[in-house]
Amino acid sequence: MSQYTNYIGKPTNRVDGPAKVTGAAKYAAEFNVPNLAYGVVVSSPIAKGKIIKVYSKPVLKIPGVLAVFSHENVPNLAWFDRNYKDDVAPGGSPFRPLHDNEVKFSQQPIALVVADTFEVARYAASILEIEYEEEDHETDIELKRTEGFMPGRGKSGWMPPPPPRGKPDKEWKKAAHRIEHEYIHGAQHHNPMEMFATTTEYHPDGSITAYDKTQGVYNAQQYISKIFGLSKKQARVVTEYMGGGFGSGLRPQYQLFMSVMAALELKRSVRVTLTRQQMFSFGHRPYTLQYVKLGTNPDGTLAALQHHALHETSRFEEYTENVVNWSGMLYQCDNVKLGYQLAELDVYTPLDMRAPGAATGSIALEIAMDEMAFEAGLDPVDFRIRNYAETDQNMKKPFSSKRLRDCYHQGAAKFGWEKRNPRPRSMRDGNMLVGWGMAGGVWDATQKKSAAKATLTADGRLEVSSATSDIGTGTYTIMTQIAAQYLGLPIEAVTFKLGDTDLPEAPLEGGSWTAASVGTAVKNVCEEMGKKLLKQAQKMKGSPLKKAKFDDVEFVNGQIRLRLDPDQAVVIRDVLQASGKEKLEAETSATPNMLKQMQHSMHSHNAVFAEVKVDEDLGTVHVTRVVNAVAAGRILNLKTARSQVLGSIVWGISMALMEETIMDHKFGRYMNHNYAEYHIPVNADVRDLQVLFVEEEDEVVNPLGVKGIGEIGLLGVAAAIANAVFHATGKRVRTLPVMIDKLL
Ligand code: MOS
Repeated sequence: MSQYTNYIGKPTNRVDGPAKVTGAAKYAAEFNVPNLAYGVVVSSPIAKGKIIKVYSKPVLKIPGVLAVFSHENVPNLAWFDRNYKDDVAPGGSPFRPLHDNEVKFSQQPIALVVADTFEVARYAASILEIEYEEEDHETDIELKRTEGFMPGRGKSGWMPPPPPRGKPDKEWKKAAHRIEHEYIHGAQHHNPMEMFATTTEYHPDGSITAYDKTQGVYNAQQYISKIFGLSKKQARVVTEYMGGGFGSGLRPQYQLFMSVMAALELKRSVRVTLTRQQMFSFGHRPYTLQYVKLGTNPDGTLAALQHHALHETSRFEEYTENVVNWSGMLYQCDNVKLGYQLAELDVYTPLDMRAPGAATGSIALEIAMDEMAFEAGLDPVDFRIRNYAETDQNMKKPFSSKRLRDCYHQGAAKFGWEKRNPRPRSMRDGNMLVGWGMAGGVWDATQKKSAAKATLTADGRLEVSSATSDIGTGTYTIMTQIAAQYLGLPIEAVTFKLGDTDLPEAPLEGGSWTAASVGTAVKNVCEEMGKKLLKQAQKMKGSPLKKAKFDDVEFVNGQIRLRLDPDQAVVIRDVLQASGKEKLEAETSATPNMLKQMQHSMHSHNAVFAEVKVDEDLGTVHVTRVVNAVAAGRILNLKTARSQVLGSIVWGISMALMEETIMDHKFGRYMNHNYAEYHIPVNADVRDLQVLFVEEEDEVVNPLGVKGIGEIGLLGVAAAIANAVFHATGKRVRTLPVMIDKLL
């Protein structure tokens, strides 16, 4: 059956592509509202201490300067109330800018200078004198190795590691082959191209519209309405486009607070944009120390598995990201011990970054698995298949679906893995050592409650909306595809709107749950609309659908027609015209089927195969080929999905070889806080990348059968590359990124 309205699964161009490349798409700092003032944030040069005085007077004399805000004159806010609760997502007590005279981390926002022009504000901010009393700071987790503690007041959604099972210590000691090693990776900072910014438009009635950069407009609205005592109606938040997020926009960032505060105080619209340097001051993937012990039986099955992680958090908030939990479920093993601890440092609270915890944990586990396979004389793929988990041993539940085995097989076949000589340093290309490595991963498939609205107008156009966001992942496009398909309309007739608190509520865009959550809401609302349309169609004179039930009809090619007798059809546009109505509207929400979901463990999986070429004399590593095989349920759009995974591979190359924020502990400050020194791959570093989706059907995760692909693609990439480096050179690097000095 050929249908032009069969869109789900098809590689489809981004519907927002033209707006983005022509500059029509507006980002938070591009809303040029009238009478706009500009705020520039002044950041702390010290990592810990007290602010003695902010010398505002000389700055206020500069023509064009409107105000200097600091803790000395911050307005009375809800959070000075003892009963105030900081329940913003992700859960916890976020840092409160300008709250008091305490400096808790380097680059802490200390003051906001507002002026008529950006240039004046920036100049005034640069000469604002602030007197500090410095105190000793601690920023080095290496010195806190013995001071780790189990998180207690972790963010919501934090799952303590499952209790130990079997006899992990005894069985490890008895194992035929054993390894135990420490693995470390440095901190990483989110570096989306678009800087965080908020343009707060002040309306004469005292209400505001905040054009903000956020992954959750409702979350940002709740945050500012509570702090400033505004009703939801008085505080609209809009994020139509985002130039990348990676998790950095899950929390409202401090420029939102600054911009809204200044606008309300000055009764004038104010924009605050952070600098690239300031983008390194509000959360990061934490520096993490991990310890893995593995043991195998003579038949190559795992005898024992132990995984412990310690990472930093701030002194004012416990940031948790699980890290080790997935290690208890990725492989079959009856003797498992998992540990997880935090250490407090004088740094900002870390923040979720793409596949938080899992990306980190998989580096250690998957390098350790490679070491274990080598020690036991087994092929790394074969070793993993010998230890394949058929059920989730953490939860003692079956998987809703799991085609990881096919990821191993299909990925290996595409890569040509069978030609691998297992001996390190055995493969060469001219003067380059060639290495082949692999690794895999697991991420969660989640559905959250979401709402959506649909409006069909007499001209045959459909608008669907939900206050979700598109951080560059393709939300606009996949939602348009789903709506077009479920109502049988040409994709050009469908518009999807998002990122506005005037629209029905959707959760934060994160956790890879948007396709599953908002997608199901869009499907549901289109079905609601379909029912309304059918009702109207049945009222038409001589309607061939008179006796049809909803399940008897389908919406295809702009028509409603009988499934069993497709010639019996009504054109959707005619239905509206016949009804005399200008439009039809429907609004509904989608909630997960908890009964079904509680009985299952729901996850996406992948297997990554990497080839590196290492110049032995120079120690340079080139990632020449990567195959990433992903099983993530139904793929809604092969094109945007592939792009997602390509991006993940590039990031994996980055994690493996380049990316880390380096702290100078003397100053307690991240020193390479710019694009010049915070290294990420450029085009020349990105060679042959191949993405393969393993078909997977799943009726448990949600009615669409999608698991989400925002995060799974990153899993295993860095480990696969590190393992390939070992295969090439015989050198095992356990501290990422793998830099030249570690190979020479
Ligand atoms: Mo993602 S770290 O949940 O934006």
